Amino acid sequence: MSTIGVCQAMTARRAVKGFDPSHQFSDEEKKQLFTHAFLAPTAFNIQHWRVVNVEERELRAKIREQAWNQPQVTDASLLLVLCMDVNAWRKKPERYWQGVPQPVQDFILPKIHDYYHGKPQVQRDECFRSCGILAMSLMLIAGDMGYESCPMDGFDFDAVGKLIRLPQDHIIGMMVAIGKGITEPHPRVGKLPLSEVLISNHF
Ligand SMILES: Cc1cc2nc3c(=O)[nH]c(=O)nc-3n(C[C@H](O)[C@H](O)[C@H](O)COP(=O)(O)O)c2cc1C
Repeated sequence: MSTIGVCQAMTARRAVKGFDPSHQFSDEEKKQLFTHAFLAPTAFNIQHWRVVNVEERELRAKIREQAWNQPQVTDASLLLVLCMDVNAWRKKPERYWQGVPQPVQDFILPKIHDYYHGKPQVQRDECFRSCGILAMSLMLIAGDMGYESCPMDGFDFDAVGKLIRLPQDHIIGMMVAIGKGITEPHPRVGKLPLSEVLISNHF
């Protein structure tokens, strides 16, 4: 059930670090969160995100050891490691455009190839673009469902990669913890003025 609008969700979202460790998401809630989050856009629709939902308690504890002992890793209802498949663009890309008329496929598939082929920096940049959009989508939907969240990059990426058996051609973008918040975030501080972050026409 939807409770709030997007502007309200943006205003209400804060990085929360204290979660009720006894709270669990129902299957229905997980479905609501994930089916909506994965509607987020990716360039060429390649959907290169591969999200690891860490449910095993012991694995959560091991990840926490690699994440500056941050409590949200073990206490949040959901701990999501947002991984990205760097090579998704070349793994049967026709899947991403299945159902469009053939001329559209004939146009777009070579474009995908040309955009990424032999360009590791572009492949990697694209991963982080999509990961950021997915992370924010997850957090806004969680807010809409009455939950709190915390985006996280305070962890040892290599060590966490080993723990989740990250495939060689995947990278971790960040983690997102989601659950029932039990601590208040500190007042929102240090926001830069619009005049500094919003540029008219050119620098
Ligand atoms: C990519 C990213 C990584 C972050 N990593 C952590 C983290 O590891 N631990 C944490 O407590 N907060 C983390 N944060 C939360 C930020 O500190 C927080 O979003 C920022 O201070 C603004 O506060 P607000 O989100 O409550 O508005 C992270 C945020 C982002 C976007």
